[in-house]
Amino acid sequence: MYHYHEPVLLQPSVDALVTNPDGTYVDVTFGGGGHSREILSRLSSKGRLIAFDQDEDALANRIDDPRFTLVNHNFSHLKAYLHYLKANPVHGILADLGISSHQIDVDNRGFAHRLNGPLDMRMSQQSTITAASLLNQSSLEDLIKIFRNYGEIPNAGKLAQTIVNSRKGEPFSTIEHFKQQILNCTPKATPAKYLSQVFQALRIAVNKEMEVLETFLTDAEQCIAAEGKLVIIAYHSLEDRLVKHLFQTGNTEGKRHTNLYGGIDKPFDAQPTKAIIPTELEIEKNKRARSAKMRIGVRNPWKANNP
Ligand SMILES: C[S@@+](CC[C@H](N)C(=O)[O-])C[C@H]1O[C@@H](n2cnc3c(N)ncnc32)[C@H](O)[C@@H]1O
Repeated sequence: MYHYHEPVLLQPSVDALVTNPDGTYVDVTFGGGGHSREILSRLSSKGRLIAFDQDEDALANRIDDPRFTLVNHNFSHLKAYLHYLKANPVHGILADLGISSHQIDVDNRGFAHRLNGPLDMRMSQQSTITAASLLNQSSLEDLIKIFRNYGEIPNAGKLAQTIVNSRKGEPFSTIEHFKQQILNCTPKATPAKYLSQVFQALRIAVNKEMEVLETFLTDAEQCIAAEGKLVIIAYHSLEDRLVKHLFQTGNTEGKRHTNLYGGIDKPFDAQPTKAIIPTELEIEKNKRARSAKMRIGVRNPWKANNP
């Protein structure tokens, strides 16, 4: 049987999230629906679950349950959709960031450097920017920023220049051609690690993942009731840093603004203060869990709406 995705940190994330069986919850990254199914199993007949996924492929996993609604849209529109669905504020929100195993395993999506396919990398089929259009049209400076900021690639300048030179001949369209063209930048000893970083950088840029996460984290405080939970599972340090900053300082930049009493006004308190990571056993069974970090924020009662 085809397996769409193996959920990571399934029990600890849902244990932390669901505190009221009659409550309304949101899973903003539905994917194969592993977390959503577990959430529904903890809810009573009065409970409700709203899920988001911008990938049309995820719609095939829709759960047939009257308590369940699936929105085929970007979770940057969370606030608007919760208003529209008359669900704001909710009792908790879960985000299991990044891409699903399905997306990485299918060659026509272009996420995996080990497969040959189109340089696509869009999570949403509605989006017009692909990895190919980004490589063919971005300025040298923008390419350097993408590789440096999103991939932490040491030779970002050389890589960007190689891309700009190469596309003057033939524009980029396939993974194989792209890999050939950047061979002179790819370390001989660790090509897979390097290509993973390059592909991560492109994927983040194509899907505007950092901008979307910032919007989502900023809006989340207006969508969660007092004492409700925001549970985020991140797979790279750029994402995790934004979440950590929000829970520590009340903003995603990590700037400390003290109030009149010398304290910090934070919409969420991290509980526990440190990130939770998968057990060795889970990592052994599911390699994707290796880089996962989960943070749990509890909505502070001040200024929070109540359902
Ligand atoms: C890691 S998978 C989630 C897997 C899921 N928890 C499960 O148990 O199967 C992430 C999913 O979220 C979706 N996704 C990522 N960013 C999104 C965004 N900004 N808006 C909507 N969906 C997004 C992806 O398309 C992918 O299907």
